[in-house]
Amino acid sequence: MDSPVSQPTVVALSLLLLALYLARRALLGKRRNYPPVAGTMIHQLLNLRRLVDYQTELSHRYRTFRMLTPTCNKVYTVDPANVEYILRTNFSNYGKGRTHHDVLQDLLGDGIFNVDGDKWRHQRKVASFEFSTRVLREYSTGVFRDTAAELAGIVAASGGGGERAVDMHDLFMRSTLDSIFKIGFGVSLGGLSGSSQEGAAFARAFDDASEQVLCRFFDLLWKVKRVLNVSSEAAMKRSVRTINDFVYAVIDKKIEQLGRDQHEFAKKEDILSRFLLEREKDPGCFDNKYLRDITLNFVIAGRDTSAGTLSWFLYVLCRNQHIQDKIAREVREATTGDGDRAVGIQEFTSCLTEGAINSMQYLHAALTETLRLYPAVPIDVKRCFSDDTLPDGYEVKKGDMVTYQPYPMGRMKFLWGDDAEEFRPERWLDDHGVFVPESPFKFTAFQAGPRICLGKEFAYRQMKIFAAVLLYLFRFEMWERGSTVGYRTMLTLKMDGPLYVRAIPRRA
Ligand code: HEM
Ligand SMILES: *[C@@H]1O[C@H](CO)[C@@H](O)[C@H](O)[C@H]1NC(C)=O
Ligand SMILES: *[C@@H]1O[C@H](CO)[C@@H](O)[C@H](O)[C@H]1NC(C)=O
Repeated sequence: MDSPVSQPTVVALSLLLLALYLARRALLGKRRNYPPVAGTMIHQLLNLRRLVDYQTELSHRYRTFRMLTPTCNKVYTVDPANVEYILRTNFSNYGKGRTHHDVLQDLLGDGIFNVDGDKWRHQRKVASFEFSTRVLREYSTGVFRDTAAELAGIVAASGGGGERAVDMHDLFMRSTLDSIFKIGFGVSLGGLSGSSQEGAAFARAFDDASEQVLCRFFDLLWKVKRVLNVSSEAAMKRSVRTINDFVYAVIDKKIEQLGRDQHEFAKKEDILSRFLLEREKDPGCFDNKYLRDITLNFVIAGRDTSAGTLSWFLYVLCRNQHIQDKIAREVREATTGDGDRAVGIQEFTSCLTEGAINSMQYLHAALTETLRLYPAVPIDVKRCFSDDTLPDGYEVKKGDMVTYQPYPMGRMKFLWGDDAEEFRPERWLDDHGVFVPESPFKFTAFQAGPRICLGKEFAYRQMKIFAAVLLYLFRFEMWERGSTVGYRTMLTLKMDGPLYVRAIPRRA
């Protein structure tokens, strides 16, 4: 991708923004204590390909700073006191806001991800309850185990004992979509096996729509294009229709099942069925569109995030073989015990009990360390609803965009010490090797406060099961020794290409 704007334009526009800013400051006097200006939107556009590293450089200089734009102020912070303030102390003054909602509306609708206020509170309450139930926990563990076993089978077959390159990024994307879709809707997509054409069409449309929706953030004309139904917006419409057709068909089928035998249905364990049962108790509390939104939001929330994290995790382990071996050892000790007895995939996954998973503290630390350096949501923006002062004394105005920055935060020496940029799972463990959590306002990969990630425990369980199965069976190396991968600037920290690895069976 070429730079979207030419150098002279950049200089001219930057100067213009700066002039406007200086003029406004001269007129208003320096009454307000705004955060220091670190650059303009143009600088961000120029650095788009390495945006989060650019943000990190600026954050080394200023813990809180501002970027000039023609419309609102964009404020960025890595200060945990500010993070706590916007995510908890003054939670109600910072939210998703209108623009965000409009951009994501076609895909996310009024799902939990995309709403503030009462609509959010209601979904959060119902979903938190469901997520804490034993039913959903056990069901999802079963799904994760089955999917991990299927994934391992594919790695074994296509990797040919280390003879052929395997793209683990692609396999993680497909397997996490399969598992979260099954948990959300109670239906197999068959993305890993490629067994269902409809499922494959849904998966493709889902990936396309996630990218298309992102283009809107950079396209001032997207609303016009949508009305005219042209170019990117025509494609968006097609993707959304494919998604909706598929999802509503599932919902209709469920409602039919529910009508046939309510008693039998009450045993169903997926999220959609749980919400349908909730609706039986309180008819009219949500319509089918709302059901679609709620369930699809879970799929969106839980897919790219865990697939991305697993990919970065494996990437880091390829570059740190001693850490990989240490995890493999821990996994073996927590499951099959004695070293040499080789067990099949099925027998191994049945050893992955809740107790065994919980005892994998080093693996837990390594995943957390991955999220510290490669947080799935690298920067996270909130809209400020009315004028306010942050704990560090800087003021923010109504309409400003206030962003806390997990990726830059993970690399700050003032937060993590001189080895902040080093991958060191041990930093999360106490003297007995037990995982010790950090303040969520300092380790912000899951957000914090009332809207902290609802699927955090889910995500760890899934990632631990996938990691355990893969590392028990294989030793991974980069296909091309010493090669590196980069990221794409998206809502999530996505790898910019395939992750080709060599998967060498650990046991003959
Ligand atoms: C490594 C994996 C994951 C990471 C790093 C992660 C991170 C996050 C972050 C940063 C947010 C806040 C987004 C925002 O409001 O701006 C969030 C929200 C959320 N996450 Fe996760 N997530 C992960 C996996 C999951 C999974 C597997 C699920 C579901 C099964 C899930 C469900 C949710 C939901 C429902 C919300 C919205 C909560 C609310 O707005 O009240 N997440 N997550
Ligand atoms: C938009 O255009 C596409 C063709 O590009 C067409 O298939 C679709 O039906 C149109 N949608 C609407 C709502 O007009
Ligand atoms: C939260 O923000 C509002 C609106 O700006 C402000 O009036 C109020 O003092 C803040 N609340 C706290 C707890 O600081």
